Amino acid sequence: MANDRRKKRRIKYPASIGDSYELYNGVKIPCVGFGTYQVDDEDDAIRSVHTAIRMGYRHIDTASYYANEKCIGHAVNSCGVPRSSLFVTGKVWNTDRGYETTLKAFDRSLKELGLDYLDLYLIHWPANPKQFREDWITINQQTWKALEKLYADGLVRAIGVSNFTPKYISVLMETAKMRPMVDQVEYHPGLMRDETIEFCGEHDIMIEAWSPLGRGFMLENPTLIELGRKYHVSAAQICLRWELQKGIIPLPKSVKDYRIRENADIFHFEISHDDMKKIDSIERVPAKHNPDTAIFD
Ligand code: A2P
Repeated sequence: MANDRRKKRRIKYPASIGDSYELYNGVKIPCVGFGTYQVDDEDDAIRSVHTAIRMGYRHIDTASYYANEKCIGHAVNSCGVPRSSLFVTGKVWNTDRGYETTLKAFDRSLKELGLDYLDLYLIHWPANPKQFREDWITINQQTWKALEKLYADGLVRAIGVSNFTPKYISVLMETAKMRPMVDQVEYHPGLMRDETIEFCGEHDIMIEAWSPLGRGFMLENPTLIELGRKYHVSAAQICLRWELQKGIIPLPKSVKDYRIRENADIFHFEISHDDMKKIDSIERVPAKHNPDTAIFD
């Protein structure tokens, strides 16, 4: 499906980290993002975002839950690259879902970030917290309505969801004026989420991959290591290139300069069709969180 999407738009594989895809509303989204989950230390947060932007990343992913919006915003505002050349994503947390509460949470995030708009705003999880599980349908629909208002008011350039499976997106679409432009899901060679990828392909919803390296543990996989040797790159670069070739936007996180650089250096080689299939057949591992049951109390 991702390949179909690429064909439809006549886009070849992106040639550099500055290249973008186009969401269905025409907004351009850079093909690789910089993940900032668990970048808790203030100095690390500012320095790693500055490093990433210096290395060419133009897409920064954060969330109120990460509790680092102040530092990420400071880094964005002080990096020397114009705001209009950067793509910044935020997310509404579980306990803030609902119409008014989402609008308030968005306002708070903008203030923390020190920005006057976001490029993308997502509903972080579909079925939490526990007290809302019985009524996830209403709460998600109301939250989406708030995102549509933010979009109509020009405060966000695109809206979407995160960790939504087809079941959750379908219900949202029953009352939505517009469908999500993005679904950000846990995705790596050990966790391919075929159903969600197929559904989003059919509805022209762009997929972003959180934990595209499987939080680092996938890098010990023998197939990825062997392919790294073959292509003279690291197992991490194989993972990220494989995602890129699938038309999925990886959001790798690192606080180490040499890894931030390495994760951006995935445009000088192409994984063959047969090797892509080899990676596709890597044994599946359990997801970190199941969207139906995840608890974040
Ligand atoms: P660190 O921040 O110390 O570099 P994911 O993005 O899949 O969640 O993976 C993030 C984890 O993988 C972090 O622990 C990060 O650690 C590590 N990591 C990021 N890039 C690389 C890389 N190129 N090689 C090895 N480990 C990496």
